[in-house]
Amino acid sequence: MKEQLRQLQEKALSALQQAADLKALQDVRVQILGKKGALTELMKGMRGLSPEERPVVGSLVNTLKDQFEACFAERQSELQQQAIAAKLAGEKIDVTLPGRGAVTGSKHPVTLVTEAVVDIFSRLGFAVEEGPEIEQDFYNFEALNIPKDHPARDMQDTFYISEDLVMRTHTSPVQIRTMLKQPPPIRVIAPGTVYRRDSDLTHSPMFHQIEGFLVDERVTFGDLKGILTHFLKEFFGEGLAVRFRPSFFPFTEPSAEVDIACVICDGQGCRVCSGTGWLEILGCGMIDPAVFDSVNYDSDVYSGFAFGMGLERIAMLKYGVNDLRLFFENDLRFLRQF
Ligand code: DAH
Repeated sequence: MKEQLRQLQEKALSALQQAADLKALQDVRVQILGKKGALTELMKGMRGLSPEERPVVGSLVNTLKDQFEACFAERQSELQQQAIAAKLAGEKIDVTLPGRGAVTGSKHPVTLVTEAVVDIFSRLGFAVEEGPEIEQDFYNFEALNIPKDHPARDMQDTFYISEDLVMRTHTSPVQIRTMLKQPPPIRVIAPGTVYRRDSDLTHSPMFHQIEGFLVDERVTFGDLKGILTHFLKEFFGEGLAVRFRPSFFPFTEPSAEVDIACVICDGQGCRVCSGTGWLEILGCGMIDPAVFDSVNYDSDVYSGFAFGMGLERIAMLKYGVNDLRLFFENDLRFLRQF
């Protein structure tokens, strides 16, 4: 039996050494010390030993167990170290690989154009004002000399939220909000989003406008012409031809529309300008005394001018974009060009 124990010991220790991983090591333990393990089987034979031999063999069994445990622990920590080392090697970071570049965005063309227009007028002393996109009938229409039954309401197809609330159809209500807030002199530019029930190739239900107005004593149509001509040449280029054409808006009297020489054909006549050589670019006029009445400005003392223009339209002309829808589709191939 002693011999059998000695052989088992040899076999067990060498099996521990050969275990290739933690799982195999655990298997060796079960094979030797488990309920049906080799040592357990061997100890069944102790019953047949004489009382003198039993303690001797018993102490040999204990020595074997102790040695096995010690060896097991040693091999186990060895294998654990190996496993950690292998895992670390697998996760090694190659710091010489090129980094992933950060994706940079670019400004939307409408934002670029807004900033350019605001920049030009800022240098002329205009301050930026904003107003709400959900607007009261009073500011959007009534105070701008467009009463409820006025035919001019047909010029704009309005999204009504309630009897009294609309999605603003233009940026002109910012005129009223600003004038009610402060006395003249005023020089304001007001960019913003506007809404109309209109959707086709050249109309979007949501688009952007920029409004400008100036109120002071003795402001004349000459001031209006001078400032707008200066702006258009700054924006589109010095040699640009500009013309003022009589028109009608309820909130200005007299009113005009401003055309610039077609930027596509340089005034020769093409598809974009319908052969006329001119492109309509903005509406303007001298602020109607009725508007001053609604904000309690004395129209005997003060006069002023106002103008409004579509930002998508001037972006199309400035960048040569031929389809309005491109501004709203957010196609990155389009947006990356700006
Ligand atoms: N609010 C007008 C529109 O949306 C544009 C406009 C025309 C604004 C003439 C003005 C102006 O301030 O004087 O069609």
